[in-house]
Amino acid sequence: MTNWTLKKLSGHCGARLEGLSLASASTSQLEIVRSSLFEHGVIVLPDQYLTPEDHIKLAEFFGEIDVNRFFTPVASHPTIAEVRTTPEQKNVIGGTWHTDHSYDAAPAMCSILSAQQLPPFGGDTHFASMSSAYYAMSSGLQNMLRHLSAWHSDGSFGSSSDVGINPKQDAFRDPVLHPVIIKHPKTGAPCVYVNGDFTLNFENWTIEESIPLLSYLYAFITKPIFTARVVWEPGMVVIWDNRLVQHYATADYSGHTRLMHRITVGGVPLEPF
Ligand code: SIN
Repeated sequence: MTNWTLKKLSGHCGARLEGLSLASASTSQLEIVRSSLFEHGVIVLPDQYLTPEDHIKLAEFFGEIDVNRFFTPVASHPTIAEVRTTPEQKNVIGGTWHTDHSYDAAPAMCSILSAQQLPPFGGDTHFASMSSAYYAMSSGLQNMLRHLSAWHSDGSFGSSSDVGINPKQDAFRDPVLHPVIIKHPKTGAPCVYVNGDFTLNFENWTIEESIPLLSYLYAFITKPIFTARVVWEPGMVVIWDNRLVQHYATADYSGHTRLMHRITVGGVPLEPF
């Protein structure tokens, strides 16, 4: 890693990697990016200006592309999803804390977001470490959560027309069950795996019974101490591990356009910690 610098963004997640061109990186360099991703949860890479072909090639290094069935595809490259905010929109895609694809039986391993057009201010993305959140809980709460699973559903996309998502009815699938505390598939670290967009209720608990504990968890796991904030720059690429972090896109640039290209890479079924 001779001419690179890797600098942590905060105490609990994220690192900024400077001095590497993703488009021309060797396999061994990309392997270092991958191991840094599993360590920090989020890797921020400035000055990349990836072409769609570069973006796809990079994603394929990490695994098979998991095409999002709800987002509008980039017309010329349908394996890339558009994350677009128009000047008229008040809300944005991903504008609440969530985990990409947790509604799938084998949820996405990572997402790779490439800045195309940025607003003159705002539009930052926040990340929170689900492993740090777990370690900060009492042993009593940790033990209880380790015995629970929760249902996840893509149903919230049915009410997402205000952010430009209008899915066909055949995009929706049945809810899927995941452990509440997963074992990270590569590092074995414990990670909290419930999120406010897609988690419905705990297995064998009603929705009414689940809401108080889920609400407590959503507030706890996104405490500022577990987070890092990414301020976007032209040409920047950000890669995050959807098992290790949740994220939140800030809707604070009304009247302006923001366009990002996103690829999600397929993952594996999740096991309990
Ligand atoms: C997303 O939720 O994947 C979008 C994040 C962003 O636009 O910053």
